[in-house]
Amino acid sequence: MSTSESTTTLRGFTIEPLVVPASVDAADAADFVAFAAVRSAVEAEQRGHGGAVMTAAELLPDWLDESRQMVGLVAKVDGRVVARANLALPAGAPECWGAVSVLPELRGRGIGSALYDRLEELAQEAGRATLQNQSTYPADVAGEAVPAPTGFGSVPIDLPSTRFLLRHGFSLEQVGRISALSLPLDPDALSALLAETVAASTGYRTVSWQGRTPEEWVESIALLRTRMSSDAPNAGIELTDVWTAERVRAVDDLWADSPRVALTSIVVHEATRQAVGFTELDVSSESDRPAEQMDTLVLREHRGHRLGMLLKLANLRELTARFPGCGLVETVNAEENRPMLEVNDAIGFVASSYSARWRKRIGGAPETV
Ligand SMILES: CC(C)(COP(=O)(O)OP(=O)(O)OC[C@H]1O[C@@H](n2cnc3c(N)ncnc32)[C@H](O)[C@@H]1OP(=O)(O)O)[C@@H](O)C(=O)NCCC(=O)NCCS
Repeated sequence: MSTSESTTTLRGFTIEPLVVPASVDAADAADFVAFAAVRSAVEAEQRGHGGAVMTAAELLPDWLDESRQMVGLVAKVDGRVVARANLALPAGAPECWGAVSVLPELRGRGIGSALYDRLEELAQEAGRATLQNQSTYPADVAGEAVPAPTGFGSVPIDLPSTRFLLRHGFSLEQVGRISALSLPLDPDALSALLAETVAASTGYRTVSWQGRTPEEWVESIALLRTRMSSDAPNAGIELTDVWTAERVRAVDDLWADSPRVALTSIVVHEATRQAVGFTELDVSSESDRPAEQMDTLVLREHRGHRLGMLLKLANLRELTARFPGCGLVETVNAEENRPMLEVNDAIGFVASSYSARWRKRIGGAPETV
């Protein structure tokens, strides 16, 4: 029996493989719904705001996406889900991503470590050489800190997550800043900034849409999403994320069946009719969670024309028009990604919390130093 199929009883808690239901209304969906609730509660705690993060129905597309296998675990005390862990195994990659969260009142009794040990075993069974992890923490934590090797940002030492990841052999690779923007923006200020940006980016135009990718742009979106792994600053983090037109369509279909709505803007180089940049927002149609800024990229060869600002403003204008009830947008940027941070600062984003990316070699050839 593989470890992913077993249920283990340890010191008053059990660890069980997560059952992924076909829908959140299915008869076997209870653990998945509880898993999502733990994830959401801990994420909101770490980000320092009380808002919801992602409902079970919003999370489900990530688990049904066949381009990256997901494995989940739940820890239960007296039959109640109190902690969760998951492993994302991108197709054809040497790396994988883990996450562990334990409800605050159940910490410090070995549940997180037991979940983590199982995740590492699963990653090794899947033949992965590297396990990576992300930790989030509020902006106002004082005290001694571990500096990021990029030279930008640091992580407070005296946090349970920092102690946990260091104790389990991870090294800090990169620090990101989570920033939030309150909506609605002042319409006059937005129009003025947009007009100024349009004037500075002659030869380019934007195209925006909600939901399914228009047929004309499917190949472009596949290319742009793939270039996120090579053209965005990823420091020592390994990222394999190859997109094809089929994969873009498969994810469009999954989102169409969920309460998640993608708002996309691209920038088109008029001389070549090529899409040379894109930005995407993940918006909820059912909850008041903040809209989540996903990828933004301008191809290297088209940088320097204020296209990053143009994209962000075009998509925010769409967001305000289509989802007037949305009150907050959150975005994560590498601390060393100064061009993107400057765009966000100019629009009015304010740092609200931080996010660190960690890496551990778990197999394969030893790393040369
Ligand atoms: C990080 C996190 C997962 C740890 O979960 P946890 O269940 O408290 O983890 P453990 O109980 O295994 O270890 C926590 C501490 O309790 C200690 N401990 C473990 N078993 C213990 C026991 N039976 N009795 C007393 N202490 C114990 C550990 O030594 C550790 O001490 P340290 O903080 O000084 O290093 C939890 O704090 C959390 O959910 N944080 C938010 C999400 C997050 O940051 N996750 C990590 C990145 S994915």
